[in-house]
Amino acid sequence: MKPVFVPPRFHIPLSRRRLLRALAVASAGFSLRGYLAEALTLSPTVTQGPYYPLAKNIPLDKDNDLVQLNDNLILAAGVVTWITGRVLDSSGNPVKGALVELWHADREGDYLYSTSAARNSACDANFAGFGQYFTGADGRYLFRTIKAGLYRGRTRHLHWGITLPGEKTRTTTQTGWNETALDLNGAVWETQNSNDNVFSTVSNSAQRSAMLLDFTAVAGATTGEVEATWDYVAGRTYTEPTYPNGGSLVVAGAPVDGPSSGNARFKLTIPAYAGYSYEIYGNPTFADLGWQALPFSLTQTGTVDRSIHTATAEGSLDVFVEQKATKGFYAVTFRVPGANTGSP
Ligand SMILES: [Fe+2]
Repeated sequence: MKPVFVPPRFHIPLSRRRLLRALAVASAGFSLRGYLAEALTLSPTVTQGPYYPLAKNIPLDKDNDLVQLNDNLILAAGVVTWITGRVLDSSGNPVKGALVELWHADREGDYLYSTSAARNSACDANFAGFGQYFTGADGRYLFRTIKAGLYRGRTRHLHWGITLPGEKTRTTTQTGWNETALDLNGAVWETQNSNDNVFSTVSNSAQRSAMLLDFTAVAGATTGEVEATWDYVAGRTYTEPTYPNGGSLVVAGAPVDGPSSGNARFKLTIPAYAGYSYEIYGNPTFADLGWQALPFSLTQTGTVDRSIHTATAEGSLDVFVEQKATKGFYAVTFRVPGANTGSP
């Protein structure tokens, strides 16, 4: 059962705010059964390809409307195409705060960016070429773009990057059109889904068919606009991050041997997050004039050489201090990335 999608209907030009608002309108018409069935099919990871925008002059316009660049009056050339859906984890739960990135070729098959060049002058000057969207609590995203053009070696396709909250790199996949690819003259294109070097390598037929979208005419539109729905189903579970913006915690110090006999240290194990800076205090009362961060070492027998440490990875962080804390407990303060200048 296909999800039923009632698309937003707005007159062009569409402002950014109205496009975002359209999302709420669009979300009412989906079929729950359709979603549950589709959620069982994990989205395969396929190559990012060479055209993710890495050029230095990425425009500020990175919103979810690729058809209109900034407030240009002239829109990108091509069939206006709406795509919406949800980002789901492997259990089918919507993921809030996922970054969805979309990039693809213009109507003529030219990308706006490449890894080696600046903006590609061959690309439609009115085409944004790249967009992004942060999902809301329902996991939903929405893009307005144009039908991707064809270029030699591939059939028609879109590139997607999905980054779940807390992840540091995007997972890439692609979607295509469930149709015979025709060039701008109506001739059958040399590369179809069946012999495309990305889609044809997805061996799981359910996964492959989930990548090839059925685009249908937007009801009531007189301009040839089309729409499709596509859920990205992550092959991993996801836990919403709850780490605070900064603060403190109290940690017991475990006595351990130091560099030499009789030179004991105290080991503190801290749940650390990358980019956060940690300091240790032994007697956390403001009445104590000696209030200052205690020096520590990152190894049990190494040099005590710092009073602040910025974690480079998430996970458990061990620090070793020499000063015994009042009642055996230390106060550990942490500050958000970039908030640590001027620290002792
Ligand atoms: Fe591509």
